[in-house]
Amino acid sequence: MGIKEITLEALDTEKFIADQVAKIKAEVGDAVAINALSGGVDSAVVTMLAHQALGDQLKTYFVENGLMRQGEPEYVVGVFADLGVPVEIIDAQDKFFAALKGVTDPEEKREQGITQVFYKDVFAQLVKETGATVLFQGTNYTDVEETAAGVKRQHNVFEQIGIDPEAAFGYKVLEPIVELRKPAVRAVARAVGLPPEISERPPFPGPALCARVIGEVTRERIATVREATVIVEEELQDTGAFQYLAVLHDDRVTGLRGTKRDFGSQIEVRCWESTDAVAAEPSELPFATLRKLADRITTEVPGVVSVTYSVTSKPPSCIEAV
Ligand code: XMP
Repeated sequence: MGIKEITLEALDTEKFIADQVAKIKAEVGDAVAINALSGGVDSAVVTMLAHQALGDQLKTYFVENGLMRQGEPEYVVGVFADLGVPVEIIDAQDKFFAALKGVTDPEEKREQGITQVFYKDVFAQLVKETGATVLFQGTNYTDVEETAAGVKRQHNVFEQIGIDPEAAFGYKVLEPIVELRKPAVRAVARAVGLPPEISERPPFPGPALCARVIGEVTRERIATVREATVIVEEELQDTGAFQYLAVLHDDRVTGLRGTKRDFGSQIEVRCWESTDAVAAEPSELPFATLRKLADRITTEVPGVVSVTYSVTSKPPSCIEAV
């Protein structure tokens, strides 16, 4: 697929950082560049590399798409302010929910609801406003590999599937960590000075909570999965698992509240053991933990009457539901 992986064993973090900073300087020159920071370790590393290379020539944005976890925009801006990197929040919630309206097909959600809005609308407008010619993003080796293999359309992969971003969107896309898988990205994150809360952060998908809502994505349904996510993250953060998440199902089931029938929503909890997300096993969580999750989600999240736990491996399951 044209890109060669740098494995964790082969990675010399200091050399990688110096090489990438030099490469970014050479490729951007005197131009303005914009940078999409999501708060995940991948885009955080890219932010640090590009900031180191470009200083004020780099404009970093956090796109509030309405699909992120609770308190995420403020949290990310705060972490990077402490690192001396200014981040501006762009409120694009209405655009994303408008594009997602009525869409239920997973690939269509990713393509029409996420990719097109990010790249054709939000970033294209930022490029126009700032006069930038380059967009930085944190595509990694696994994103490219899975997209090229046809497993799933990662929202940020273009050239490897024959799309030229310059022709399609009007700006160049630079991907400084595209040769690295997650463990190598984390090693660079530590070396580049990111705090452990970011360098060790569990992965979170680019399409955000949209990847965890089966069926139509609405503000209300995102609110449901967001509240369940808070509980899942609180209860499972000390497990050491690779990733843990809540999925909102499309089907509803009959439940009981007091003496009344309640036709409500179902949340599925997933908790994964993995090193690189290519293959994964469900964590063997204690039954008491599962019970606590079910009790909290059904009492604290309005409308949820059923909680299940996935015991499937990847493959054939995927880590995310959409
Ligand atoms: P799947 O669901 O494909 O997930 O087993 C593998 C890993 O990738 C994350 N993921 C994504 N990351 N854009 C991303 O940046 C995406 O479209 C995307 N989909 C899944 C997922 O959270 C897991 O860590």
